[in-house]
Amino acid sequence: MKKDLLKMLDLSGDDILSILDLADQLKYEQQHGLPHHYLEGKTLAMIFEKNSTRTRVSFETGMFQLGGHALFLSGKESQIGRGEPIQDTARVLSRYCDGIMIRTFDQAEVENLAKYADIPVINGLTDFAHPCQVLADLMTVRERMAHLNGLKLCFIGDGNNMANSLIVGGLKCGMEVAVACPEGYWPDQQVLDFAASVQGGSRFTLTGDIFEAAKDADVIFTDVWASMGQEEERAKRAVAFAGYQVNADLMAVAHPGCMVQHCLPAHRGEEITEEVFEQHADEIFDEAENRLHAQKAVMVLLMHGEI
Ligand code: CP
Ligand code: NVA
Repeated sequence: MKKDLLKMLDLSGDDILSILDLADQLKYEQQHGLPHHYLEGKTLAMIFEKNSTRTRVSFETGMFQLGGHALFLSGKESQIGRGEPIQDTARVLSRYCDGIMIRTFDQAEVENLAKYADIPVINGLTDFAHPCQVLADLMTVRERMAHLNGLKLCFIGDGNNMANSLIVGGLKCGMEVAVACPEGYWPDQQVLDFAASVQGGSRFTLTGDIFEAAKDADVIFTDVWASMGQEEERAKRAVAFAGYQVNADLMAVAHPGCMVQHCLPAHRGEEITEEVFEQHADEIFDEAENRLHAQKAVMVLLMHGEI
C-alpha cells in the first residue's frame, strides 16, 4: 500500500528516526559527490496554493539530485484555481506522476488528496502542519547535539502549524517540550490531546510565560506571529504577541549552548531580535539546508518503492 507524509501525528518515533538516518546518509552522499539517483525517471508534482522559497527550491533541487524531475503547479494557474475538485486532481496526477507535494490552507484538502491519489502525497505546509520543516529541524538538532532523547525543546509564539508539528515531533523523539503562547493562540486541540497522552503529559508544558518555557532549554524555536493567510490580522496579532520574542534576556535563562531555530522567513524585531538571529545564523541556515536532505529522504522512502 502506498504511504503518505501528511502530518507528524501519523509517524511513529521509529519512523522519524529512520527518515533522519536516511537524510544523514543522503547528505553525506551529496557532500562527497557519491551518486544517489534513487528516483531516476520519477516525477513529483508540486502544488502551491501559498507562497514559498525554501519548500519549492528544496523539493525541486532534491528531485533533480535524485535523478528525477519536479514540476511546479500554482493553485492560481492550474485548474485547481478554477474549482476543479481535489479528488479529480488526485486521480489525474496519479496517471502522470509518481508523487505529489502540496502546500495549501486546509489540512482536510491534503488528507482528501491523499485519499484519492494512488501515489504518495507529501504535505508541504497547511494551516495545521508543516511536517517536512520539522523533520529538517529534528535533523539539525540531532546533528549538533548528537541525540534528541531527553533534550528540552522550547517554542515561543503562535500555536500554529510549526508549534503543532514541533510538539508532536519532539515528544515522539523523547524530548521534553515547553510551549509559550498567548491566551487564545494555543496549539490545535488534537495536538494538545496527543501531548497529554504521552506519559500522562509529564513531558509537555503549555504556558503564557516565555521564561518558564525557555528555562534550561536546549533548543528554542520561534516563528512569525502572523502566518500566510493571516495577513489581515497582523496589527491585532502584533498586540497579542508583544513580549513573545526570542531575545538576549530569554536566551539568558536557557541552557548554556542552547540552539536557536527558525523555519524562516523571519521578522526581525518581532518574534526574534536581529542580535539573536545573527548569533545563531549558522544553525538557522543549516536548518534551511536540511530541508533538502530531509525531504530527499522522505521522497526516497515514499517513492522508491523498495527501501
Ligand atoms: N520554511 C519554509 O517552509 O519556507 P518557505 O515558505 O520559503 O517554503
Ligand atoms: N507559520 C508560517 C510558516 C512558514 C514557513 C506560515 O504558515 O506562514
